[in-house]
Amino acid sequence: MAIRFLTSGESHGEKLNAIIEGIPFGYELDFDFINSELASRQSGYGRGGRMKIEKDKIKIVSGVRFSTTTASPISIEISNNDWQNWLYPMSVEKIDFNKIDKELAKEIKEKIKEKKITKLRPAHADYAGAVKYNFDDIRYVLERSSARETTTRVAVGAICQNILKYYNITFKSEVISIGECTNKKDFENYIKNYQKDGDSLGGIIKIIIKNPPIGLGSYTHWDKKLDGKLAQAMMSIPAVKSVEIGLGKDYAKYSGSNSHDEIFEKDGKIYHKTNNSGGIEGGMTNGEDIIIEIAMKPIPTMKKALNSVEIKTHKKTTAHFERADNCAVEACGVVARNMSAIIILDAFLEKFGSDCKEDIDLAFQNYQKRINEI
Ligand SMILES: Cc1cc2nc3c(=O)[nH]c(=O)nc-3n(C[C@H](O)[C@H](O)[C@H](O)COP(=O)(O)O)c2cc1C
Repeated sequence: MAIRFLTSGESHGEKLNAIIEGIPFGYELDFDFINSELASRQSGYGRGGRMKIEKDKIKIVSGVRFSTTTASPISIEISNNDWQNWLYPMSVEKIDFNKIDKELAKEIKEKIKEKKITKLRPAHADYAGAVKYNFDDIRYVLERSSARETTTRVAVGAICQNILKYYNITFKSEVISIGECTNKKDFENYIKNYQKDGDSLGGIIKIIIKNPPIGLGSYTHWDKKLDGKLAQAMMSIPAVKSVEIGLGKDYAKYSGSNSHDEIFEKDGKIYHKTNNSGGIEGGMTNGEDIIIEIAMKPIPTMKKALNSVEIKTHKKTTAHFERADNCAVEACGVVARNMSAIIILDAFLEKFGSDCKEDIDLAFQNYQKRINEI
């Protein structure tokens, strides 16, 4: 593993943070690009009111000097504007009610009580999370299992995309369908229809990675296979329920002679006529673009609340509702393309070195020269 990263932060906490280790020396970062990826994650029809409160912007705290990476761990932070509204319910410090004005103490106590959640949300992390960690306020699960955490992943991924752009490797995501609607022009109205009923939707997203060099990943061991690493990264995104590469599960419908990508040669260059394998064969890039499709399930938190029970009393109730997206498929695509960028940069640095841009550039050029001579 050439790079690794950790994130921290709660949905309504003060800040979201990440530390990225392994970014080489000498890459100039484009903060406008990183912030534009963060803005894209906030967009898309069907997003909840929260996205109107937040204006996500990256703040780099270490590992960058004069806009250029220093090879030291990069730490970043992104502020949660909404935290101002949650100051007391999310307080890190113990509140000593004896030391504050009685009226204020009363107000804070009410706020904290109000924020306690006991009604389990089906399809969310609530039930298993509360049982596993032994608490009866689902707020604890909600705060960290929230997809707000994907904000920092997008920032990390955007740094990776930024570096891979130097090698002409680019990332795109595209919404293929929302629910059963496949006509892009109808997406907005389709979402609106469910939104007015307090219902939620999921969809299918395609991720296209252009110009990856041949030979990223490896066939030599299970945990070095690039398709396996990409699949894990995709499945780690909240609400993603399946990952397909190339033809994916449709591959099973065809005979080999009708589906495998035949190999040809033109002007000394080897290429595949089709790309049904989605750019990965034997756990390695094969020189074609990487094509991934993921499915996102409908958002669990809904105004149209489902049957549920109270965690402590087991009393029949309906699921907790608090401000939520009713469709976040487009945003999920932004998270997915950035998660894939983290995996691709990791494989890229494993192949071409991970200390400094100059050495990596030379290794990359040398490799391209060798390929051209094959
Ligand atoms: C970009 C994005 C936004 C999301 N927004 C919400 C939301 O507002 N409310 C919600 O209940 N779930 C939302 N989710 C999905 C949940 O976080 C997810 O379903 C939940 O954590 C349970 O995890 P699982 O679906 O992977 O099992 C969102 C997911 C993504 C990728």
